[in-house]
Amino acid sequence: MDRDFSEALDAAITRVGVIRAFAKGLQRALNAIFLEGPLRPLKNFASGAWLEHPLHPLLTDVPVGAWTVTLLLYIVALLFGVTQLGFAIALAMGLGILAALAAIATGFMDWMDVDPTELIIGFVHATVNIIGTLCFTIAWFLLYSAQWQVSMTNFIPALLGYLIMSVGAYLGGTLVFRLGVMINRNAYRSGPKEFTPVVGFEELAENKPQRFNVKGQPVLLVRRGQQVYAIGAVCSHYGAPLEQGAIHDTLIECPWHYSRFSLEDGSVKRGPSTAPLPLYETDVKDGKIWVRASRVAQIVPPH
Ligand code: FES
Repeated sequence: MDRDFSEALDAAITRVGVIRAFAKGLQRALNAIFLEGPLRPLKNFASGAWLEHPLHPLLTDVPVGAWTVTLLLYIVALLFGVTQLGFAIALAMGLGILAALAAIATGFMDWMDVDPTELIIGFVHATVNIIGTLCFTIAWFLLYSAQWQVSMTNFIPALLGYLIMSVGAYLGGTLVFRLGVMINRNAYRSGPKEFTPVVGFEELAENKPQRFNVKGQPVLLVRRGQQVYAIGAVCSHYGAPLEQGAIHDTLIECPWHYSRFSLEDGSVKRGPSTAPLPLYETDVKDGKIWVRASRVAQIVPPH
C-alpha cells in the first residue's frame, strides 16, 4: 500500500519534469557545496557519524512532540477558555520550530546521497515539512502580535501546520521503512563463528582490498605488511562494494559517498555512514588467512 502510494507519487511528480529537474539540480548543488572543501565537516556532523546514529531522525522527534503539546494546549485553551496558556503554547511551538529547522538542515544532508529512486519522495518529504514549519512560524508570530492571547486566528495556521507535518512524517516513514534510506546495510550479518580459511597469505596483494565470500558473509581483506585486516565488504550506508574503495593509511574510503571506515575495528571515521562495519578476527596458519566474526560482529543475532 505504502509502496503503491510512493510509486504513484513518484510517477505523478516525474510527469512534472520541472520538479524532478529542480530536485536533481538541488542535489547536485548540495554535493558541490558540501562534498569537499571547508564545509565538509558540517556534513559529517549533520550525518551523525560522530554519534554512530543518524542525527536527522533524532531531531524530527522534537517538533513532532513539541507541536503535539502545542495542539493539546491550544485545545484546552480554546475549549475551557484558559487564556493564560498562550505563552506556554508559544514556548512549545517555538521549540518545535527551532528543532524543525535543524531537522530540515540535517535531512538535506542525508538527501544529498539518496539514489534516484528516493530522490523525489525525499524532496516532497522536505518540501511538505518546510511548508508545515512555515505554518507554525506564522502561527507563532500571530500569537506574539496578539500578546500571547489564544484565538482561532493563531490556532488555524498551527492546526494546518500539524496536519501538513503529519503528511511529511508519513513520507519520512516511507523513505526509511519502505525504501530503506539510511538503514544499516549490515544489520543482519553475523558469523562465521569458527575460524574459516579464506585465501593463501601470499595470494593477497599488499594494500589492495579484496572481497571474499566467507560462509555467506562478504568479507573484505586488506594486507599491510604482516598485518591482515578483515571487515565487512559492504558499506553500511548504501551497500557500496568496498573492495572498490581507496585505502588511506588504515582507513578505507567508500567509492560511492566517501564514508571512511577504520580497517582496525570497522568504526566509522567519516560520514555519511553512521553504522560501523562487521569486524572479523584474523589468523595466519599453514600459509592461509583464517577469519572468524569478532565479538563485535557476533552480537548481531543470526536470522
Ligand atoms: S554507500 Fe554511501 S558512503 Fe558508502
